[in-house]
Amino acid sequence: MKIVLKQVNLLHPGQKLNEKNDLLIEEGIIKKIGGLDEEDFKLAKVYDFENKYCVPGFFDMHVHLREPGREDEETIETGCNAAAAGGFTAVACMPNTNPPIDSAEIVRFIKEKSSKHLVDVYPVAAATLARKGESIAPMLELYDAGAVAFSDDGSAIKTAGILRNALEYSRMINAPIIEHCEEETLADGAMNESFTSTILGLPGIPNVAEDIIVMRDIMLAEFTGGKVHIAHISSKNAVDLVRQAKKRGIRITAEVAPHHFTLTEEMLKTFDTNYKMNPPLRTRVDVEALIEGLKDGTIDCIASDHAPHSIEEKEMEFIFAPNGILGLETQIGLVFSELVHKKHLTLNQVIEKFAVNPRKILNIPVPLIKEGEAANLTIIDPDLIWTVDISKFKSKARNSPFDKRLLAGRSISVINNRKMFFEEKFFAI
Ligand code: DOR
Repeated sequence: MKIVLKQVNLLHPGQKLNEKNDLLIEEGIIKKIGGLDEEDFKLAKVYDFENKYCVPGFFDMHVHLREPGREDEETIETGCNAAAAGGFTAVACMPNTNPPIDSAEIVRFIKEKSSKHLVDVYPVAAATLARKGESIAPMLELYDAGAVAFSDDGSAIKTAGILRNALEYSRMINAPIIEHCEEETLADGAMNESFTSTILGLPGIPNVAEDIIVMRDIMLAEFTGGKVHIAHISSKNAVDLVRQAKKRGIRITAEVAPHHFTLTEEMLKTFDTNYKMNPPLRTRVDVEALIEGLKDGTIDCIASDHAPHSIEEKEMEFIFAPNGILGLETQIGLVFSELVHKKHLTLNQVIEKFAVNPRKILNIPVPLIKEGEAANLTIIDPDLIWTVDISKFKSKARNSPFDKRLLAGRSISVINNRKMFFEEKFFAI
């Protein structure tokens, strides 16, 4: 099977590639860039991608696939379909499943179940057994089975002593500890702690609950020489702490979720549980600091924290509803609308944050756009105006606060593992 992407803008910051050309893909391999002759077009399916951008396949390093355990909310298959529809060729999935990803069998189960999909799935294993924070998981065995990082996501690693052990083990394999930064004794709330939470009568979670764990983890990363990756950073102080730590050469990286740089706690006035997530939406000051952190490279990656929940559970009274929202199918649109079109980030910076840095952090090779390489590509139309429609999501869940939002910019196709997703369908190529 041959396909030609015609007159597409090829962009890859790592390769210093920026050219408009024809791309021939045969049996999943990039066969030719430019110089296509009549023979190349023969029997090929031709896609006219003029004014579209062809970039290395995007990687979302923070998604919840819910399998095993909550297949009513999402499965590996529906989560992968949502990732492809949203413009991603790879995801890293978090270990707060039921049972949690704390044994080699479960890592292998996820790898096996996802193996035939267009989207590559990289499991993040629990750092501690059952994510309880009491004793570390069999990290080296989990790594051998295919885990790429360790995290107790959903909660922070409970104690400094356990984190120290986890960092010492993870250092042996150069894998990061992905930290959910929240000191649990300060975090018994349903939204950001502020004047607004007082007015709304909702229990608050102060910024310092996040900052204190970021500080602890920076100190232990420095002490052990291990790598810490801060998940879904949300507060201004946390951004400042990461910035200073990086300057001191500590091995620390960070990601931000699109809801944290597009929404503020003001949305909580609606009492819509689709604005309830963990960490909570913060203030305008925090949003500005997150955008600044993205611009100056303090924040390395953008990741969705795609967190599917059932309608029944999300429709509970605010304080009882679960935390989290969907992200895979809206985040490219949000990033282009809020960051690229508003001139906060360039397209090259978006590629760094969505394709290059997540893989660097997880020690996964970055796909190249080069003759002879396997095609692992995302095709973007940065100017496509579209309206989010949750009823069309490939995800099983519907808990998005962005329904009906008008966005500019979208992925129109992804290619990986000899498969292509285009116009809502998968094709073998
Ligand atoms: O909002 C969140 N939802 N934050 C988390 O850390 C966990 C996630 C989930 O699993 O639903």
